[in-house]
Amino acid sequence: MILAANFKSNLVLSDIREYFETLDSYLFEKPKEDIYIFPSNFALQEKIKNFSIGVQNAYCALNGAFTGEITLEALRDFGIKNILIGHSERRNIFGENQKMCAKKFDFFAKEGFNIFYCIGESLEIRQQGQEAIEKFLSTQFEGIDLEYANLVVAYEPVWAIGTGVSAKIEEIKQTHNFLKSKVDRPLLYGGSVQLQNIKEILGIDEVDGVLVGSAALDVSNFIKMIEIARGC
Ligand code: PGA
Repeated sequence: MILAANFKSNLVLSDIREYFETLDSYLFEKPKEDIYIFPSNFALQEKIKNFSIGVQNAYCALNGAFTGEITLEALRDFGIKNILIGHSERRNIFGENQKMCAKKFDFFAKEGFNIFYCIGESLEIRQQGQEAIEKFLSTQFEGIDLEYANLVVAYEPVWAIGTGVSAKIEEIKQTHNFLKSKVDRPLLYGGSVQLQNIKEILGIDEVDGVLVGSAALDVSNFIKMIEIARGC
C-alpha cells in the first residue's frame, strides 16, 4: 500500500521539521507501508529514515539558466529520487502541457526516478460521461512510457482536488478499472481523501494507495490515515 502526501506550497521549514520528526519516530519499527512526502523544495534536504521524500516538480535539465526551477544536480545532491509529474496544478495553473509532462517524464525516467505521474479530468469532461473521461485520460498518457518500471500512476479528478468532495466509490472503481487495463503499475487515487473516506477508498480492489493533499498537512491526521491503511 502506498500513502503519499503532497504538501503543495504549505508549511514553513520549522513546521516541516517537526512534522518529519514526529512521523519518522512514529514509523520507527512499524511494519513498513510505502510512505512518501512531497514537501516544498526547501525541505528536500531533511534527513529522515523511515519514509521517503520527493519533489513536487522539477525542470528536466542537469543545471543551467532556468530561473526559479530546481534541476537534477540539486536533487542528486539532496539524494532525492522521487518526483511528481503532471499534477493538475502544474498543468492548469502553470500551463504545463502534455508535451512538457512527457519531456520531464522521459528525462527523469532515464535517471531512474520513481515517477508519480498524475492524471485527471475536469468537471466539464466528467459531465460528458465515462467515454469522454476515458478518452481524455488517454491523452494524458501520450508520450509516457507506461512500461516504465518505477512508475506509479495517480488518478486525481481535478474537480475532487481540494474541494472536500471526493469521487464516489463507484466512479473511482470504474475509472481505475479502465486505467488498470492500460497500465500495469501501482495506481493511486487522489482528490479529497480524508480520514472519513480513506478506508472505503483503500478497500477498492483497483486502488493501490492514495495521494493526499490538505488532509495530510496535519501530522496526527496523516498518522491516523496510515493506521487505517494498515488495517485495510
Ligand atoms: P487534496 O489534494 O487531498 O487536498 O484534494 C490532493 C492532491 O492534489 O494531490
